[in-house]
Amino acid sequence: MIRLGILGSGSGSNMQAILDAITDGTLEAEIVLVLSDISDSYILERAARAGLRTGLIDCRGLTSKFPEEAQQETAKALRQSGVELVCLAGFMRLLRAPILDAFGGRIINIHPSLLPKYPGLNAWTQALEAGARESGCTVHYVDAGMDTGQVVAQAAVPVLSGDTAESLHARIQVEEHRIYPEAIAKVAAGLRRD
Ligand code: GRF
Repeated sequence: MIRLGILGSGSGSNMQAILDAITDGTLEAEIVLVLSDISDSYILERAARAGLRTGLIDCRGLTSKFPEEAQQETAKALRQSGVELVCLAGFMRLLRAPILDAFGGRIINIHPSLLPKYPGLNAWTQALEAGARESGCTVHYVDAGMDTGQVVAQAAVPVLSGDTAESLHARIQVEEHRIYPEAIAKVAAGLRRD
């Protein structure tokens, strides 16, 4: 049973999908800690409602930077909870050495495009603006770059005429919720073999 730590800044629908997969027995894992940098984020509310341990990452009032001390505190909290795999689920800050070193090869992220296409912010808008006929989502290992780590799993969706950022993102999220729990199971199986 792999112990997961989840970091998110937004609605937490991917965290919910992971939790649902655990509850219905399709994913053998336990969420031992959910951390967010946003105090009133829905991910923290969902996690608290589900009785999960939660914590707030204090980014010292900075809007997008992830200060070194905050990264150290985050790594410490994850370690103290016995986290074996860190899952980023809509977490909006870039991880650096304190966390990457503490959890080398044990951090994954979900991104709303078929990487290496459309890394960074608003990937669904990037796909629409590029006139793409398809997009999708990717679960990948996290390294020091922006959405550059090795791919674990991907799923494609069509881009339909008349799509808006919202409709395309909603279609992508259906696939995210399916592949993220599957990708966690795959990564966990690999870690068990190591
Ligand atoms: C997802 O689309 C994910 O790909 C991106 O941020 C969004 C998070 O959504 N990294 P949620 O908070 O899991 O609903």
